[in-house]
Amino acid sequence: MKDEQPSFTASWVAGWRGLGHLLGDAQIADDPFGARFGGRWAEALARAGAHPALRAGLIRLPQIANWVGYMQVRTRLIDDQLRSFLAAGGRQVVILGAGYDCRAARFAALLAGARVFEIDHPATQARKRAVLDGAGASPVVRYVAWHFERRALGELPAALAELGLDVARPTLTIWEGVTMYLSPAAIDATVAAVRGLGGDGSRLVFNYLTRQALERPRGLARVAAAAVARVGEPFTFGWDPAELPAWMAARGWRLTIDRDLAVAAGELLPAAVAARVEASNRHIAVATVG
Ligand SMILES: C[S@@+](CC[C@H](N)C(=O)[O-])C[C@H]1O[C@@H](n2cnc3c(N)ncnc32)[C@H](O)[C@@H]1O
Repeated sequence: MKDEQPSFTASWVAGWRGLGHLLGDAQIADDPFGARFGGRWAEALARAGAHPALRAGLIRLPQIANWVGYMQVRTRLIDDQLRSFLAAGGRQVVILGAGYDCRAARFAALLAGARVFEIDHPATQARKRAVLDGAGASPVVRYVAWHFERRALGELPAALAELGLDVARPTLTIWEGVTMYLSPAAIDATVAAVRGLGGDGSRLVFNYLTRQALERPRGLARVAAAAVARVGEPFTFGWDPAELPAWMAARGWRLTIDRDLAVAAGELLPAAVAARVEASNRHIAVATVG
């Protein structure tokens, strides 16, 4: 990403995450802060979507259905992981490359008594805090500014331990929308560092591009790859799903879930919207310790 600028892609995905109400009764995730982070275009769509007649027309537009549907499924699957971790008694959550992920605010009641740490690029994090302040939201979060390619990730467990993370207890790490932007070395260092963030019962939830999508993007995926490259945040990394279980096992993780987002869209969204979601070769995966 461009070095001292807040992430553009973080604001793009947050904007779409804030537009779930365009699905009306079929909405499966809600982010009341997302449109603010998206900026004017997202706020204008959010206002238009408050009118039922306009909403029905907007969600028929292919690009709108694609982005709203994709972000609804991605958000919902990760929200479900957060709920399940908390229901199992987990009380430590680390959000890596948090961007404008507002789970700390969206799940404030469920997270009462839990510790949430957000790690991100300093510029993106500063904008997030300013926008949330402007919205009058003050989730209980320990913010940690970190440049993944500059500061050794091996230092992360000790840095978070100093801020109150108990690395012997289960930790849920959410790594959403980040893996595709990192170098292979940063991916390896991150997965090793996250392994040091918690004990048995820890989970890592992340989404990724398949290597096939990275090397031979087609259709809207090709347009997306060109667009992110133009804004200085090119896709750089993908996994082959067939190799991921062994790759994770070699690093101390057991891959327990690996879902193709297009398949999940077919299960969770109305058929007309799911058909527009260009999500094949995008996955959400969960790895666990112990
Ligand atoms: C597409 S955004 C995803 C944000 C959020 N997790 C979400 O899904 O909405 C990518 C995030 O990775 C962060 N990021 C990218 N490269 C980074 C780096 N080298 N160091 C720290 N953060 C980085 C950006 O600041 C941004 O918040």
